[in-house]
Amino acid sequence: MKVQALIALALPALFAGCATQPDAEEQAALVADARKASAALTQKLGGELKAAIAADGPAGAIGVCKTRAPQIAADVSQQFGVEAKRVSPKNRNPDGVPDAWEAEAQAGLEKRLAAGEKPETLDTWQIVRTSGGQQFRYAKALPVQQMCLNCHGDPATMAEGVKARLAAEYPLDKATGYAPGMLRGIVSIKRAL
Ligand code: HEC
Repeated sequence: MKVQALIALALPALFAGCATQPDAEEQAALVADARKASAALTQKLGGELKAAIAADGPAGAIGVCKTRAPQIAADVSQQFGVEAKRVSPKNRNPDGVPDAWEAEAQAGLEKRLAAGEKPETLDTWQIVRTSGGQQFRYAKALPVQQMCLNCHGDPATMAEGVKARLAAEYPLDKATGYAPGMLRGIVSIKRAL
C-alpha cells in the first residue's frame, strides 16, 4: 500500500479519536475566557465582602460570605457556561474540597510562587481526557492579603466574635492559620469540550 493511502486511512481515525481537540487559537480563547470568569468571580465577591465588613464588621460579613460566595460562583458559571468554584486544601466551605487536578494545580502554583512568580497573575490550565470526554481545566491562585486575615488568620489573634461565628457556622473549618503571601486556595474553572 502506498504511503499516501495509509495516511488517508489513518487520518480520519486520528481525528475521530480527538475530534474536539482545540487548536492553539481555540485554546487561547478558552484561557482568556477562564481568566475573565475568574476575575468576575473574585471582583464581585471581593467587592461584596469589603462592603459587608465596612457595614457589619468581619463577624457580620461571615454570613454574607456563606450565602453569597456560592451564589456568585453559580452566577458566573451560568454567565460563562463553565463550572466555577473556589477550593482549598484547607477548606472552610464543606463543598470546597479540591479534586485531584485542583490539588495538583495548586501545588504547582505554590512552587512557582516560591520560585518568585508574581502571585497576582499566577494561573495554570490544561486539557484533560476523562471517561466522559475532554475537559478544559483552569486554576487561578488566590493569594492571602491583609484583609483575608480577619477570617483566615492566626486564631490566637483573630477577633473573638469572628471565632465564635466560624465555630457555629463551620464546625469542621480548616481555613485558619494563614499569613500574607500564602495561597489560600484557587478559583477553579472547568468546562466540558
Ligand atoms: C468576613 C470573613 C472572611 C474574609 C475577610 C475572607 N474570607 Fe474567605 N471565606 C470565608 C467564609 C465564611 C468562607 C466559606 C464560604 C465560602 O466562601 O465558600 C470562605 C471561603 C473561602 C475560600 C473557599 C475555599 C474554602 O476554604 O472553603 C477561599 C479560597 C477563600 N475564602 C479565600 C479568601 C481570600 C483570598 C480572602 C482575602 C482576599 C478571604 N477569603 C477573606 C470568610 C472570609
